[in-house]
Amino acid sequence: MVKVITYGTFDLLHKGHIRLLERAKILGDYLIVGVTSDDFDKARGKLNVQQNLMERIEAVRATGIADEIVVEEYEGQKIEDIQKYGVDIFTVGSDWCGKFDYLKDYCQVIYLPRTEGISSSALRTEKYQLQLGLVGESIILEKFLNECKYVNSVKLTAVCSAYPAELPECLQELPCVTSDYDVFLNHVEAVYIMSTPKLHYAQVKKALLSGKHVLCETPEALTRLQCEELHCIAKKNALILAEGNKTAYATAYIRLILMLKAGKIGDVISVDATSTSLSEKYFVKNIDDFNRWNSIEAWGAKSLLPVFHILGSDYSSKQIISHITSDESMFDSFTIINFVYPHAVATVKVGKGIKSENELIIVGTKGYIYVPAPWWKTDYFEIRYENRNENKRYFYQLDGEGIRYEVIAFVNAIKNKNKMALTDESISQAIAEVMEDYYSGKDMVRI
Ligand code: CTP
Repeated sequence: MVKVITYGTFDLLHKGHIRLLERAKILGDYLIVGVTSDDFDKARGKLNVQQNLMERIEAVRATGIADEIVVEEYEGQKIEDIQKYGVDIFTVGSDWCGKFDYLKDYCQVIYLPRTEGISSSALRTEKYQLQLGLVGESIILEKFLNECKYVNSVKLTAVCSAYPAELPECLQELPCVTSDYDVFLNHVEAVYIMSTPKLHYAQVKKALLSGKHVLCETPEALTRLQCEELHCIAKKNALILAEGNKTAYATAYIRLILMLKAGKIGDVISVDATSTSLSEKYFVKNIDDFNRWNSIEAWGAKSLLPVFHILGSDYSSKQIISHITSDESMFDSFTIINFVYPHAVATVKVGKGIKSENELIIVGTKGYIYVPAPWWKTDYFEIRYENRNENKRYFYQLDGEGIRYEVIAFVNAIKNKNKMALTDESISQAIAEVMEDYYSGKDMVRI
């Protein structure tokens, strides 16, 4: 019996796939089809696959062509499969010509001509392209634009900034470049807001009332009430409102939270997050005080995520200790926030005028988790125990600092009309409340 094997993602199964499978089948007597796992696709940079593994397997099974279906989960698995299943012929489409010649040491390799004019990528693009606009003065918008190139269900159509002429060239090439927010909103279906947090509430509200979906960089608003109101408007109008924080989409961060939930370090008794920087390189030149983010807005909101994610937002008390260098703009060169929970504590140390080790440490009753600097670009962490032989290290590839995963989650939430799985309204409200207390002076000490 001649055994043939072929592999693919088989997303949105189309006639190119079916023709490939039919021709693979007649090369022998028995056809094994390897379908790539979601994690493997992610690891090899295929991020916007629309169907999950089970849906794709089901589609291949429904063709009735495959005699056996296996899941491809890691680099190098093909050699193992060929040996394990006693495969005689490996085949794929001609778009891979030459790439699998190394398998000739194990079996015959045949590249079949690819069917012209159709691909999953093209179908995904045809299916849905969200017209997205960017708002803000940060040159991080350029990073965001570059990351959107990996998401073919998104088309950037506009940018709105107080300094349109100072934005990087690639942003100025978008179809609509303006400082007029109303004009901007006419060019988009959804917005990503990264302007000064002082404007978030007004800009998010206007966007929602104009029927646009919103991804707003954390902090979403500067008071709890405003935050609640925004979510109310979003719900009433069946729109997505999500808080932007790329760390929440890093695979390592997601796995870390799951491991905590599974009790890997016992009960959590403290969370310490430090986020500091000395440079202001992330803004257009000549940024004025109004548009500049202070420490608690730029770093505080981001660093509150793991605290509220892990310990919840029901803390018993807190103290905000800030060194404020300008009363007028409330610019804090550093801020330390201490939280007391019934059975735990947390500290967030942030600053744009100090430099420290930007690490995240989560202490438990059985051990602790250590995330090295810069923890917010989480790709690696360690679980450490008293007996160091039990220590575990975890690494998960992080492409584009998590931004592309965040954009995909946003688009999928819009498309599937569900909320973004990783951002929680109660966390957004708790973050907004901390901002509110900072500006009103509640629970605050100035040094
Ligand atoms: N294939 C083909 N003709 C096409 C598309 C795909 O013969 N028009 C073949 C590929 O060469 C591969 C198999 O089908 O052997 C599975 O390909 P896959 O990567 O899943 O499909 P694509 O449509 O190429 O997906 P994408 O656009 O995401 O790369």
